[in-house]
Amino acid sequence: MSDFDVLVIGSGPGGYVCAIKSAQLGLKVACVEGQKDLGGTCLNVGCIPSKALLHASDAYHESSKYFSKMGIVAPSVMIDWVQMQTYKKTMISQNTQGIKYLFKKNNISLIQGWARIEDENTVSVGDTKISASHIVIATGSKPSTLKGIDIDGETIVDSTGALNLKSIPKKFAIIGAGVIGLELGSVYSRLGTEVTVIEFLDNIIDGMDKEVSKTFLKILKKQGLKFILNSSVENIKKNKKSALVEYTKKDNLETQSIEADIVLVATGRRAFTKNLGLENIGINPNDSGQIEVNRNLQTIHSNIYAIGDVIKGPMLAHKAEDEGIAVAEQISGQSINIDYNLVPSVVYTSPEVASVGKTEQDLKNESLDFKIGKFSFMGNGRAKVNFSTEGFVKILADSLTDRILGAHIIGPGAGDLIHEICVAMEFGASSEDLARTCHAHPTVSEAVREAALACLDGSIHS
Ligand code: NAI
Repeated sequence: MSDFDVLVIGSGPGGYVCAIKSAQLGLKVACVEGQKDLGGTCLNVGCIPSKALLHASDAYHESSKYFSKMGIVAPSVMIDWVQMQTYKKTMISQNTQGIKYLFKKNNISLIQGWARIEDENTVSVGDTKISASHIVIATGSKPSTLKGIDIDGETIVDSTGALNLKSIPKKFAIIGAGVIGLELGSVYSRLGTEVTVIEFLDNIIDGMDKEVSKTFLKILKKQGLKFILNSSVENIKKNKKSALVEYTKKDNLETQSIEADIVLVATGRRAFTKNLGLENIGINPNDSGQIEVNRNLQTIHSNIYAIGDVIKGPMLAHKAEDEGIAVAEQISGQSINIDYNLVPSVVYTSPEVASVGKTEQDLKNESLDFKIGKFSFMGNGRAKVNFSTEGFVKILADSLTDRILGAHIIGPGAGDLIHEICVAMEFGASSEDLARTCHAHPTVSEAVREAALACLDGSIHS
């Protein structure tokens, strides 16, 4: 008889959701967490703090750009960086405390400490040994750095450091135009920092629909962010209070440099599987630290599962959550089904960028016959009123069946708008289904309907 039916290692969005769902399904559950607070990267040093700073910096930016146009007189809107950090910390704490409450409510045993797997049914935390019928590895990921570059947390920082800067930098260099680089670059740019992003590829956010990526780059440049594309950073020289970032242009192999007070290394994350005792159960993570699982999220041992950032796939909190639920259901005897094609992705800049399903390039590569319905927010009344007409909704649908295959939005509220298309796709909807669904006026969601109409006879307001 084991101490627990399910023992979850890690309390990030994958782990804590798995623990709660398992408890709701009547299982006896424990969750082991090494950090002081629950919630993992997402709540403590990722999604939640970055969204707090994005929200605050956006409000500041909006006030300086649009208040006077709307007849609001606020002559001295200023930044109190210390208070902005306090606001961020309060939001983190409210969210982490919320999970503690949910654990109590669902009778989940919280075990504080670093877990080590001893054998297929035993995990040790310090000197304590705990037995479990099922083990779920949900240990997440950590920022990775570039070879030879030392993250000192002062001048050269990773995403965690960039969220906790002592003051707003004058010059901020970012290595990597991925989601982290662009979200944090947006924060500081709006607060008045000179931001330069250096990217190895010739575009930003690799994998995003190319048309969206191009528009996104244009908008960010207009906002004042500088981009050095097609360039690889190989070295950072530290001075007393600043750093010299050396990069090589890929086309002519010339090496150039820029100076910055702070350098953010945002070149990806690595699965966090160190010191977990995987060798005790014969699991060998790959070079990126990831654990291999089958389609049921089981490792080589059928009672040991791995979910979230420790396995392949996008490193997204909501993907981890879905996997956590799927594992809980499987342990309690239900069958699991995750459609990874329907996992949306969102960049929380202003405007937001969101997508689901296939990109135009994917469909071309697959030689599928498809049609494109596009609608610009310029034609949306609510977007006009809100000064947020930049961007568009793009829907891709099968030419023959009209089934929606993908959607890409850059514009106001894109991160929320994408979900009506996710639901539609989950039900196998056609663009006509979306186009025939009444959308309230005046809302920015009308742009989604208009893009669906554009897949058919044409949108009304363009
Ligand atoms: P990323 O993998 O998305 O982007 C890293 C970028 O750095 C790439 O474009 C790459 O070409 C570039 N790069 C790598 N080495 C370089 C070099 N030497 N010189 C110049 N450029 C170089 O990684 P990122 O942004 O650090 O994000 C990590 C993970 O976190 C991603 O999986 C992301 O999806 C996830 N995340 C998601 C968020 C969201 O959904 N809103 C928010 C934050 C993170």
